[in-house]
Amino acid sequence: MTATPGSGWREAGHADEVVAAAVARLAAAGCVAAPEEAAAFLSAAPDELTLEAWLQRREQGEPQPWITGTVVFCGLRLHVTPGVFVPRAQTQDLARRAAALLPEQGCAVDLCTGIGAIAAHLRAQVPTSHVVGVDVDPRAAACARRNGVPAVAADLAAPLRRPGPAVDVVTAVAPYVPTDELEVLPSDVQRYEPRHALDGGADGLALVRRVVAEASRLLRRDGWLLLEVGGDQDQVLAPTLATHGFDVAEAWYDDDGDLRGVAARATGPRANSGATR
Ligand SMILES: C[S@@+](CC[C@H](N)C(=O)[O-])C[C@H]1O[C@@H](n2cnc3c(N)ncnc32)[C@H](O)[C@@H]1O
Repeated sequence: MTATPGSGWREAGHADEVVAAAVARLAAAGCVAAPEEAAAFLSAAPDELTLEAWLQRREQGEPQPWITGTVVFCGLRLHVTPGVFVPRAQTQDLARRAAALLPEQGCAVDLCTGIGAIAAHLRAQVPTSHVVGVDVDPRAAACARRNGVPAVAADLAAPLRRPGPAVDVVTAVAPYVPTDELEVLPSDVQRYEPRHALDGGADGLALVRRVVAEASRLLRRDGWLLLEVGGDQDQVLAPTLATHGFDVAEAWYDDDGDLRGVAARATGPRANSGATR
């Protein structure tokens, strides 16, 4: 591709050539969604020189949303700060399930909120609700706020332990990759994405178990906890859910039959009695 300055390059008569070249380069660099990524770059690049610089960064493995600064999640275009975990398409299913469980004027907490994608979807779908996000990474919390989500930088639900309204829905895409499986993640994920967003400890559930305990203190009776997990983690997690007073655990799967998440109902009130808030 020949890089030429100016913003009229899309109309310059060689747009098809530019698209084809971008798709080929991204595919050669190992991008599994090369056409979609090329389309995102082409729609956001102000000129061809910028496009060329962006493609070079992507060829090095940098996540596409860090380069363009945005990602689309459940139809919402959201800001993405470089260094913050990029929400995955698969997580949209969890977000939609959570929105369906959140009542009008209800209250939801999105633990490990990242850029605030799930929380932003909940707020968009149930505008009368109160939704807050928490992330240990101050960059993530700031990005979530930029996406319109009231968010704080903290360890899980630490800022929510004082008495407050009982919560209807808790969501969490906590890190859940077992430590020894980090090395089989795509190389660009290993190279760029923050380890604290991925590493779930020996069986992947170290932080998820803490989320279950925190959620049991926050949720009202019959409130719902939705967790993203994979592999056989629904079965591994079942005793923890039962211990913390969750009586229903419904798993869901993707089109390939792979586990994507679990929804569990709290028996409350504020679940597991004796909780210190
Ligand atoms: C897999 S990412 C998911 C982010 C977001 N929910 C999403 O789906 O895009 C996990 C997030 O958990 C955050 N995190 C890790 N440990 C945490 C903790 N102890 N308390 C709160 N957030 C934590 C990371 O900073 C990261 O943003």
